[in-house]
Amino acid sequence: MSFLDGHAVVPVVVLDDPGRAAALGEALVGGGLPIAEVTLRTPGALAGIAAMAENPDLLVGAGTVLTAAQADAAVEAGARFVVSPGLSRAVVERCRALRVPVLPGVATATEVLAAADLGLDAVKFFPAATSGGAPAVAALAAVFAGMRFVPTGGITAANAGEYLALPSVLAVGGSWMVPRDAEPDRLRELIGGVGAVVAAAGR
Ligand code: 3PG
Repeated sequence: MSFLDGHAVVPVVVLDDPGRAAALGEALVGGGLPIAEVTLRTPGALAGIAAMAENPDLLVGAGTVLTAAQADAAVEAGARFVVSPGLSRAVVERCRALRVPVLPGVATATEVLAAADLGLDAVKFFPAATSGGAPAVAALAAVFAGMRFVPTGGITAANAGEYLALPSVLAVGGSWMVPRDAEPDRLRELIGGVGAVVAAAGR
């Protein structure tokens, strides 16, 4: 069981205007992608998480969580899962204490081993494209049989299927369907296109 069950693609959101968060959440739900990882990279990210958390049909989490204090703030704002670009014991332990699923980032075998040592059975593979792409995930999965991966970073509608074809891949993350400056119509089109990518991968 994972919080990602039923979610093959995790939209990675960089929110410049928290006032747009609710509409974006509705667009995601309406487009069949009822999950969002809002990155803590902009001043309005926590307000955006809070706005999205009001949508009962949307599973909202926080990304780019680098410290235990950020995990606290994200969960306080309403985040129901936490994603980090790297593996921090402090972040993992705080999320456990908060009873919130955490997905820390790894890019090497040593880091996967460190994650397994912390008792984790799922990790973000980041940055996926520049860390060897789907072949690298397959190579790591061959060694770490119990580990599941969420490749993120450089994933697009064109290459998401390569990752989703791997049984070790729980889901892929990406911002390709939620570009920062997209107009609502374009957003709807991009979000609506994700279903075909997932279906083509047999998910
Ligand atoms: C992340 O925070 O996971 C990445 O920035 C997402 O990568 P992408 O923008 O290349 O999809």
